[in-house]
Amino acid sequence: MLVPESELKWFSVQPSPGVFDFSGYRRMAAFAHANDMDMRGHVFVWHRANPDWLEGALTDRRTAEKILASHIKRVTQETAPLIRNWDVVNEAIDTESGREDGLREESIWLKALGPDYIPLAFKLAHAADPGLTLAYNDYGLEQGDGGNRRKRRCTLRMLEKCLRAGGPVHALGLQSHLQAHMPLAHNDFRSFLRDVRALGLALYITELDLDVSRLFGRMDDRIKLAQNYLRAYLDLVQEEGAIEMLLTWGLSDRYSWLRKDNPGLAGALPLDADFDRGPMWGTLKEGWLHI
Ligand code: XIL
Repeated sequence: MLVPESELKWFSVQPSPGVFDFSGYRRMAAFAHANDMDMRGHVFVWHRANPDWLEGALTDRRTAEKILASHIKRVTQETAPLIRNWDVVNEAIDTESGREDGLREESIWLKALGPDYIPLAFKLAHAADPGLTLAYNDYGLEQGDGGNRRKRRCTLRMLEKCLRAGGPVHALGLQSHLQAHMPLAHNDFRSFLRDVRALGLALYITELDLDVSRLFGRMDDRIKLAQNYLRAYLDLVQEEGAIEMLLTWGLSDRYSWLRKDNPGLAGALPLDADFDRGPMWGTLKEGWLHI
């Protein structure tokens, strides 16, 4: 399954008001089609990757709603029938938020529409194409520190509120940008997964990679540590069962977004920078595919 890393973000598809550009997406869609692969959509509502004109255009509630509705409508028209599963809202919770509900204050959508922007986005996606499966997607839910704990709490409350407000959210995407030097969460994370499933939501791993840049010591030892870490995560999520899909954020270290900060990073993705199988390959094969 292919997920466009940027080709379906706002600044790619609607660079100027009402002007849509699907050229990047169409190249990927042609590849997916030729190789008999599915695609997943990412993303309608995010605080980043918005074109410069957008924030200023959201002058009042009605206008903001109209702009969001027509964007979602046009993009789903273009991408159906290939894409049936979408990240509708991305990264709406911010552990640094001064708000009680933890909503990310810098979101242009929060500023224009208030906290209801979340159920609204899901309603608009559903109205645009009622057959779509709709996900909320976020990072920082999987590890053990205080910030992650707050994030889990606020995420659960936000999802409950969204459903109560009639927002048809069907799944939670755990981005799973894991950091091998940080402890994994255990009990608190397990009960979070159970609570999310009890709301009727499916669970996905949507953007798995492993930042190994802050592991030290001999190469062999670092590889072992990274593999054990990933294996522990896979075991943990599977204990709670029902992770419906696992996607890595890229395939080869060569093009990993993590390389922006760590140019030589290795072992973050299944394939290394030369497209050979790296340490993660075997761990995914055993720990996820059980072969
Ligand atoms: C990243 C892309 O991989 C980069 O190429 C881009 O420069 C920035 O965005 N969480 C998300 C993704 O939901 O959209 C981000 O993708 C990575 C973090």
